[in-house]
Amino acid sequence: MAEYGMILVETQGKVGIIRLNRPQALNALCDQLMSEVGEALRAFDKDPGIAAIILTGSEKAFAAGADIKEMKDRTFPDVIFDDFIGDRWETVLEIRKPVIAAVAGFALGGGCELAMMCDMILAADNAKFGQPEINLGIIPGAGGSQRLTRAIGKSKAMEMILTARMMDAAEAERANLVCRVVPLAELIPEAVKIGEKIASLSGPSIAIAKDAVNTAYETTLTEGVKAERRMFLGLFATADQKEGMAAFAEKRKPAFTNR
Ligand code: CAA
Repeated sequence: MAEYGMILVETQGKVGIIRLNRPQALNALCDQLMSEVGEALRAFDKDPGIAAIILTGSEKAFAAGADIKEMKDRTFPDVIFDDFIGDRWETVLEIRKPVIAAVAGFALGGGCELAMMCDMILAADNAKFGQPEINLGIIPGAGGSQRLTRAIGKSKAMEMILTARMMDAAEAERANLVCRVVPLAELIPEAVKIGEKIASLSGPSIAIAKDAVNTAYETTLTEGVKAERRMFLGLFATADQKEGMAAFAEKRKPAFTNR
């Protein structure tokens, strides 16, 4: 497995784990860190032994945002020709396998945005979410104003983005930002359990299911339902559909082959 400077990478069975590891800066998302995250995500996506990926940080911080010290002197010509968000951060959107954000501690600014780019967010009970960019004289720049609004609605998103108010884990669960809240000590074991469940299912149907849910964010209801129908019907071309349904009829566990 590749060696990185700012992340730790490990596998537990068929689950790949990427841990942001820049504790001295609360995992502020500098260029090197995001390049490494992108590289590790791509490597797991290509690895046939991996079925799901967990992206996590430390107990104190998932990530406290883009690296303010690295950004502060950048000029408009700098950022227009090196779009650090588009070039490095959005790799997570290209990954076909499910990516689970396991969030403990601060997920602020770009940290909250990175978590929201993942397919689901599992939160520890000490998680805190926020978009405090307004305090810096800027606004969210990695999709926060769009994804947070879609996740939790206009009024709450507006309050958080305009006033920098943070949301704790319980509120984030009530607001549907996260799929579940678990005790801090259970965060990685629970995320791995989700990954293991995914790994026990048919890889092609998991990839298509992820695509179908993401389509809901990108299109109208009518077009989304049509896209879902095409995907649903397409899965009848897989051996795993035959196996899944035969196993149900024969009252046995399916043995999926990812074909
Ligand atoms: N960038 C760079 N360094 C950061 C950082 C960031 N986003 N967040 C924290 N750090 C650094 C601090 O500067 C400090 O470093 P030093 O010890 O060298 O001074 C170290 O991490 C520890 O931080 P604190 O001492 O501030 O820790 P704390 O526990 O007192 O406070 C905190 C924690 C509330 C998260 C606070 O660090 C904070 O407010 N951080 C900034 C949060 C923020 O504004 N995020 C948005 C960034 S902009 C963005 O993300 C743009 C975008 O949309 C893409």
